[in-house]
Amino acid sequence: MTSWTPAEVDPDVPSAARIYDYLLGGSHNFGPDRELADKLLAVQPNVADIARRNRAFLRRAVLFMAAAGIRQFLDLGSGIPTAGNVHEIAQQAAPGSRVVYVDYEGIAVAHSELLLAGNENAAVVQRDVTRPDEVLAADGTRRLIDFSRPVGLLAVTIGHYLPPATDPVGVFARYRDAVAPGSHLALSHLTDDFAGLHGDAIVETMRSTQNNVFPRTRARVLELFGDFALVAPGLVTTSGWRPDDSTAAAVDPEEDGLYAGVAVKT
Ligand SMILES: C[S@@+](CC[C@H](N)C(=O)[O-])C[C@H]1O[C@@H](n2cnc3c(N)ncnc32)[C@H](O)[C@@H]1O
Repeated sequence: MTSWTPAEVDPDVPSAARIYDYLLGGSHNFGPDRELADKLLAVQPNVADIARRNRAFLRRAVLFMAAAGIRQFLDLGSGIPTAGNVHEIAQQAAPGSRVVYVDYEGIAVAHSELLLAGNENAAVVQRDVTRPDEVLAADGTRRLIDFSRPVGLLAVTIGHYLPPATDPVGVFARYRDAVAPGSHLALSHLTDDFAGLHGDAIVETMRSTQNNVFPRTRARVLELFGDFALVAPGLVTTSGWRPDDSTAAAVDPEEDGLYAGVAVKT
C-alpha cells in the first residue's frame, strides 16, 4: 500500500480501472493489476492498442460534442486520470465547460480529486453507475449539470462491466431520459462479434478481478442508444469513428475490439 491508497481499496484484487491505467502506461496500479494485465496481454496481445484507440475515440467524441455546442459532460466510469482527460479536452475546446466524473473505484476517485482540486468547473462523484438516481442526485452532479440544457453523456468502455442482472438497457435509459433534447451519448463497448477478439478468454481472465466483463453483440450494443439518433458513420469500431490526423487506425477495424458510436437526443 502507498500513501495514495484510500482505506477501502483492496490492492490484492485487480481492478479494471488500474489494469487499464497500466495498459495506458500509467503508474496508479499495483502488482496484482500488472500481473492480470500481463495475463490479458497473453490472451489478447493487442489489448494495449485496444485501450489506446478507445482513449483516442473518447477524445474525438468530446471534441465532436464541443463543436456541437455541448458545454457540460457526465462521464460514467471515468477511470483513473491519464493523458487527455475529459475536462482538459472540453475546457481547452470551450473554456468554462463543466465535467462530472463518475467512478466507484477508490484510486480513480482519489486521483481525480487531486487533479481537480481548484477546478470549480469539474468534480468527481464516487457512485455506482448502475444506480442512476444516486448519480443524478449527487451533489457534484447537481452543482455542475443543468439538466434543462444539453448534456454530453460519456459511457466509454463502461457498458461491458455492467452485469445483465443490473439491467444495462434500463440503466442507460434512465440517463437518456434525464437529459434535454440536443444531448449526446458517446459509448464504446467490448464485443466478441469479431474473430480477432478473444472474448471468452478475456471474460475468463477478468473473472478473478473486481470487474467481470460482458461482451455484447452489435444488436445488444445498439439497444443502449435507445431512440437517440446515431450520427455518421453510425456504430463502427473505435478507430473508424471519425478518424482524424492523429488517429492510429487499426489495419483491420475488427482489431479495435470495441464498438463505438455517438448519438443525439432529438
Ligand atoms: C476501462 S475504465 C474506462 C475509463 C474511461 N471511461 C475510458 O474509456 O478511457 C472503466 C472504468 O469503469 C469503472 N466502473 C466499472 N463498473 C462501474 C460501476 N458499476 N460504477 C462506476 N464505475 C464503474 C471502473 O472502476 C473503471 O474505472
